[in-house]
Amino acid sequence: MDSAIPMTQPKTTDSSSARRDTLSVTDNRTGKTYEIPVTNDTIRANDLRKIRVDESDFGMMSYDPAFNNTASCISRITFIDGDQGILRYRGYPIEELAEKATYLETAYLLLHGELPTESQLKEWQHHITHHTFIHESIKKFLDGFHYDAHPMGMLISTIAALSTFYPDAKHIFDPESRKKQTYRLIGKMPTIAAFSYRHTLGMPYVYPDNDLSYPGNFLNMLFRTSETRYRPNPTLEKALDILFILHADHEQNCSANTIRGVGSSHVDPFCASAAATAALYGPLHGGANEEALRMLMEIGSVQKVPEFIKRVKAGETRLMGFGHRIYKNYDPRARIIKRIAYEVFDLMGKNPLLEIALECERIALEDEYFVKRKLYPNVDFYTGLIYQSMGFPMTMFPVLFAIPRMSGWVAQWEEMLLDAEQKIARPRQIYLGHDTRSYVPIEQRS
Ligand code: ACO
Repeated sequence: MDSAIPMTQPKTTDSSSARRDTLSVTDNRTGKTYEIPVTNDTIRANDLRKIRVDESDFGMMSYDPAFNNTASCISRITFIDGDQGILRYRGYPIEELAEKATYLETAYLLLHGELPTESQLKEWQHHITHHTFIHESIKKFLDGFHYDAHPMGMLISTIAALSTFYPDAKHIFDPESRKKQTYRLIGKMPTIAAFSYRHTLGMPYVYPDNDLSYPGNFLNMLFRTSETRYRPNPTLEKALDILFILHADHEQNCSANTIRGVGSSHVDPFCASAAATAALYGPLHGGANEEALRMLMEIGSVQKVPEFIKRVKAGETRLMGFGHRIYKNYDPRARIIKRIAYEVFDLMGKNPLLEIALECERIALEDEYFVKRKLYPNVDFYTGLIYQSMGFPMTMFPVLFAIPRMSGWVAQWEEMLLDAEQKIARPRQIYLGHDTRSYVPIEQRS
């Protein structure tokens, strides 16, 4: 594909003429000039269709593999300034939410647009808490998974299976139905995740304890053994809650784009969020925390970091947990996570891989290869170390990302559904394959 810039040329306006929010484009194939409206520093790709060589021409399109410079929606949920390293949910800086809010309060904010009042929060917590139980039949098919099944595979399948238990979920334009499915999805995520974990250990499932907080109950379902009542450690409970806040949403990332795309076919939210969870599983997205820890283990010692960095620079491997499509600065979540890591290590003992991680970061932040490409630690670089110190196996790391991301996915899904401009997602292509040709019988093929 020829990547030459289309022959656009801004029309020079004389200083006396009033500023217009338009873009003038001259098509040098025809000499015609088009005036395209500019709104929010953006032109509508459909306006390019007016640019045609003749009546039979389909019209101009824009080509943007991987959506590098294409806005797919108008959103009011999450704001990121990747150059400045800014992240805000509904206008509130992530640093303030991490310090002052709880995860469930943050989830409410993402979904409703405003922080809850005291009574709204109480009601919200009540509904989420009372949707934590899962149907007993779900336990039966979890039992069918192999003992070493990856918990993300179990999570994805079980979320999709919820669609068969709640057929009312297909009434996606009924606000009451959407509300109910939201409670179910956010409420049941920790339960399914914890059951998947217990299954891999061959341990009996622990039912939710509705008197505990959202992260506290999750720890209970994961780690309770013979205690009559599980009491989560407050430091770990708080650390997990902050990690949940940091992972709750991240505007139009791969999995948010997936739930919007899949949801645009009007499938129910269980199937749509199972697809989003699958997107998250990939090593370039939410699976990177697992990969980052594997990488630190593979490096093995601080002395071997320079050698590993050399391999990264030679293009043999990537420094997992580094780089981001949007952040060209330190990921603000990574900064907060680094602080939490020390709080967890104070309690659980320092993770021996920390020194290796710090050395990778130190070298990378000074090395021209990383500096030139603006590669900084992202959210996944330090989370693995915390999760490991908290006692989670590596396969649970992406699951720990998926649990809180559910609130962001549902918020993105609902915003898409209620946006009158949205339709079924259907990109165009540039077809460069064969022109029409006749079928060749098999005996005549070379
Ligand atoms: N290690 C080494 N080099 C890297 C890395 C990395 N982690 N990330 C990017 N680069 C290099 C690329 O090789 C490329 O170099 P080049 O210009 O010489 O070809 C340049 O930086 C730009 O990289 P792209 O892959 O074009 O950047 P893109 O925006 O497409 O990718 C991504 C972003 C996928 C996050 C990438 O940085 C990456 O693979 N990082 C490692 C995986 C990871 O940590 N993912 C988690 C992201 S956060 C999240 O999803 C929750």
